[in-house]
Amino acid sequence: KILILDFGSQVTQLIARRVRDAHVFCEVHPCDVSDEWVRAYAADGNLKGIILSGSHASVYEDETDKAPEAVFSLGVPVLGICYGMQTMAQQLGGKVEAGRTREFGSAQVRAHGHTRLLDGLEDLRTDEGHGILDVWMSHGDKVTELPPGFSVMASNAACPIAGMADEARRFYAVQFHPEVTHTKKGQELLERFVLQICGTKPDWIMGDYIAEAVQRIREQVGDEEVILGLSGGVDSSVAAALIHRAIGDQLTCVFVDHGLLRLNEGDMVMEMFVGKLHAKVIRVDASEQFLGHLAGVSDPEAKRKIIGREFVEVFKAEASKLTASGASKAGAKWLAQGTIYPDVIESGGAKSKKAVTIKSHHNVGGLPEQLGLKLLEPLRELFKDEVRELGVALGLPADMVYRHPFPGPGLGVRILGAVNKEFADLLRRADAIFIEELRNTPYTGGSLAGANPRKPPKTWYDAVSQAFTVFLPVKSVGVMGDGRTYDYVVALRAVQTSDFMTADWAELPYSLLKTVSGRIINEVRGINRVTYDVSSKPPATIEWE
Ligand code: XMP
Repeated sequence: KILILDFGSQVTQLIARRVRDAHVFCEVHPCDVSDEWVRAYAADGNLKGIILSGSHASVYEDETDKAPEAVFSLGVPVLGICYGMQTMAQQLGGKVEAGRTREFGSAQVRAHGHTRLLDGLEDLRTDEGHGILDVWMSHGDKVTELPPGFSVMASNAACPIAGMADEARRFYAVQFHPEVTHTKKGQELLERFVLQICGTKPDWIMGDYIAEAVQRIREQVGDEEVILGLSGGVDSSVAAALIHRAIGDQLTCVFVDHGLLRLNEGDMVMEMFVGKLHAKVIRVDASEQFLGHLAGVSDPEAKRKIIGREFVEVFKAEASKLTASGASKAGAKWLAQGTIYPDVIESGGAKSKKAVTIKSHHNVGGLPEQLGLKLLEPLRELFKDEVRELGVALGLPADMVYRHPFPGPGLGVRILGAVNKEFADLLRRADAIFIEELRNTPYTGGSLAGANPRKPPKTWYDAVSQAFTVFLPVKSVGVMGDGRTYDYVVALRAVQTSDFMTADWAELPYSLLKTVSGRIINEVRGINRVTYDVSSKPPATIEWE
């Protein structure tokens, strides 16, 4: 395994993603872990290398973070990135100074000498035979004096020591960011480090992971019973499939249908989990209750709060029937959740919380305590892509596992203003047509920002990050056959994004938009106008409410 020490950079998760992409297991831990912690972490002999991430801090300010000394005395290879390079230089006897200018953005560096990390790795070769790398820089400070034992590994005019290496000790450091895609050979550089220099084996493969995870769940749970809230989303579905594989009927899933799901979604979830996997699923049809509480409420935040609150109520009521204090004989002792690694890193890191609530997200935190249950989170160490890979390996259909995200409040935030069953039914049908056409239309576009270059999209559904339909409760005039219509409007929304924090509207082909609009207007009586949302985030958000 590889240990990544996080000094607080925004992109530390990307380092981990890239190491995992090389099929090597790694974990991110805060940089302020103690020497003893690092030694204990390495004690089983499995720690093969350490990566020090970037940061916003400056090493020569007082009280900035340092790497625990053990990092440099365990005898394992170390790679410092950006701030990680600076702290390595400082701690091993070199010098770091404030740069007069900040270097930010694309840059080129020349590789020097023949280090195992950079030798032959280049985007172009100069007439003099120097290898040049296209990289991404983001720093103010820089290393100005090498620590003893190091030599220059890369440089450019702005940054004469843009990389340094001590081959004997296997310490390497780069001022640029190999983890971002702008550094074209970044993945290769990181793979060289973890595979060749650290000597890890690329054996982190989801198919093999299942046996190990199943074993762990069995040991953890014993013969006790587990409850899981199944939403039909990727994370809870994969968690359910994995736990079911481990303990079969000791697992009961509770699936709350709030009446704001997509067309046939509830039936599909039941078909999959009960029909195919033979899991125990309690389907709670709470749509009347939800729609009842939502009636006449048009404020987006109020709607979100109602849906979140009712969800917890319904789930709690159902779950408590299954717990030791409830009706069931033995009683469940565990609550399983589909928490994934980015959720764990996010809540553990000292990242600044957004100051204003743009949208209050659906949140079921605190439930285990309220229900007196122990928490089972078998996906805690996996990234989203890995969760998907695992889902496929567990036999879930690719269609389900590679679905776009769907918000907890469901169609409740896609029907503007007050929600009712008529609007939800119209929206469900229109949305199903849009999604069906996206799935059926081969992708013809060019290169895609944010799309995974390792898995080129086959259809427009795969080419966009999220697509859906929004119901606008306004009527407009139309003409159909010889008659006048006066019906509702929908908006189509499709975005491309890598992190959902910012997003661009997708340049869908006109022909696709034309087919979708024609079908919706002809097939969904009650809708006579279709529009396409051409707003980016920011300033718009992805969902309309
Ligand atoms: P916005 O609309 O804020 O959405 O640009 C960003 C992403 O978050 C999803 N979203 C939610 N997901 N519960 C969720 O689980 C929610 O309450 C919620 N609200 C928005 C949205 O679909 C998009 O992917």
